[in-house]
Amino acid sequence: MKEFKGKVAVITGAASGIGRAIAERCVSEGMNAVLADVDEASLARAESELKALGGDVLAVRTDVARRKDVEQLARQTLDAFGQVHLLVNNAGVGAGGSAWEATWNDWDWVIGVNLWGVIHGVKVFTPLMLKQNVECHIVNTSSAAGLLVGGGSAPYATTKHAVVALSESLYLALEQRKSLVKVSVLCPGLVRTNIADSELHRPSDLKNEPVEMSAEMQAGLKMFRAAIDAAMPPAQVAGAVFDAIRNEQFYILSHPEWLEAVQMRTDKLLRMENPQNPTAIVMRLIKPGN
Ligand SMILES: NC(=O)c1ccc[n+]([C@@H]2O[C@H](COP(=O)([O-])OP(=O)(O)OC[C@H]3O[C@@H](n4cnc5c(N)ncnc54)[C@H](O)[C@@H]3O)[C@@H](O)[C@H]2O)c1
Repeated sequence: MKEFKGKVAVITGAASGIGRAIAERCVSEGMNAVLADVDEASLARAESELKALGGDVLAVRTDVARRKDVEQLARQTLDAFGQVHLLVNNAGVGAGGSAWEATWNDWDWVIGVNLWGVIHGVKVFTPLMLKQNVECHIVNTSSAAGLLVGGGSAPYATTKHAVVALSESLYLALEQRKSLVKVSVLCPGLVRTNIADSELHRPSDLKNEPVEMSAEMQAGLKMFRAAIDAAMPPAQVAGAVFDAIRNEQFYILSHPEWLEAVQMRTDKLLRMENPQNPTAIVMRLIKPGN
């Protein structure tokens, strides 16, 4: 898709961070933007801010983990604008530690939002786009954690790898049919957003029993927050997303220098060697001045 003016975009997780920046870019490109998010207060704020920029904007409170919510999102989009041309399945959360220490609730919540959220978007919107038979694009937000596995959150890495696989399989199936619906997967490195406060969006039925954080966990969280605060602004990621849509580019990497770590992982795989934690490489790459 090369022309955006007057077209319709649906963005999930649109009330904050990367989704908010993509929504703003949609408005500045002259698109009608449907903002979907579970956080009603931030959603209302984003809606009024984007309207103030002159956008034709619709906000739909949506929990992407719930199929019925995403079906409702599609109905409201078509009722308001008649068509949909761009879908950005972007809502995501982070939680949990190692595969056995992450709680059942952590697994359920992260898989619900990060993976089922994308599956719901793809299953509900792709048939609508195919029926329209006009140029469309689907962007699924994965992560650098969809290409690399560190020692951090196992549920997060698992869902983000699954989103890359889902996106690639969608891309190949649509290419085979010579469809006008194109696909990209967004794999950001660190971006300055509210992702460190994901817990605020956890539904009450999936909350963990309160536990005291160890000093090590607290230090880890502090480091993560500091790295996020110093990271790339989300508007830059939104720019990369629009370049990729224009160029029909599948992989969108906000931090291509991180491919050094992907290369290390791939080389090990090709030599059938055991995995190595890429954190040291990533830490060197995100050091100020690099
Ligand atoms: N920030 C980073 O460094 C980074 C890196 C790699 C990937 N990502 C991915 O980018 C995407 C956007 O995250 P962000 O960094 O902008 O974080 P963010 O927390 O600023 O924004 C995420 C948005 O998703 C919404 N959300 C959470 N649960 C939801 C649900 N069930 N249904 C609908 N909306 C829901 C939140 O309310 C929030 O507005 C996520 O998929 C995240 O995993 C972020």
